[in-house]
Amino acid sequence: MTWEELEAECRQCQKCELGATRTNLVFGVGSPQAEVLFIGEGPGEQEDLRGEPFVGRSGQLLDKYLAAIHLDRRRNIYIANMVKCRPPKNRDPKPEEQDMCLNWLTAQVKLMQPKIIVCLGRIAAQRIIGKEFKVTKEHGKFYEHNGILRMGTFHPAALLRNPNQKPDALEDFLALQAKIEEICESTYS
Ligand code: URA
Repeated sequence: MTWEELEAECRQCQKCELGATRTNLVFGVGSPQAEVLFIGEGPGEQEDLRGEPFVGRSGQLLDKYLAAIHLDRRRNIYIANMVKCRPPKNRDPKPEEQDMCLNWLTAQVKLMQPKIIVCLGRIAAQRIIGKEFKVTKEHGKFYEHNGILRMGTFHPAALLRNPNQKPDALEDFLALQAKIEEICESTYS
């Protein structure tokens, strides 16, 4: 299956109740050829309206961290979410919604074959890295699984609420930059 075929199929998805209330399905943004994949939680209001991940206030903050290490959401990374449709009133996606949506993300990862996955926040990190993952304790550490390095860091919305965590988040991005320089071939070329 090609990326375009996967996206077309995904856009028809009505596997869970979030399909009924979405304005737009948010498949992701960036280059499917990228070596680094960022995974957030799920679309909020702005993302639902525009069909693109992280376009609200937390997205603007994310873009600043990306720019600090020469990453650009349209050029050398890909950004997706654990769930592709907005949970009403921005509640956490339910475990069963995440379960049903995970197939799409898994298919994206199979096609992309990223070298590094960065989980933005607890919801993604606990699904992708480990059930007991604690962002405050384990942020910025790389864990290898099936040939892919996985790292969890603070969700940008959490940084807006707790700006005192911003220096730690910057360190995580700098560690990411060093890891990209070490193992990636095309990201900075
Ligand atoms: N928060 C997320 O986790 N993802 C988005 O796309 C927007 C906000």
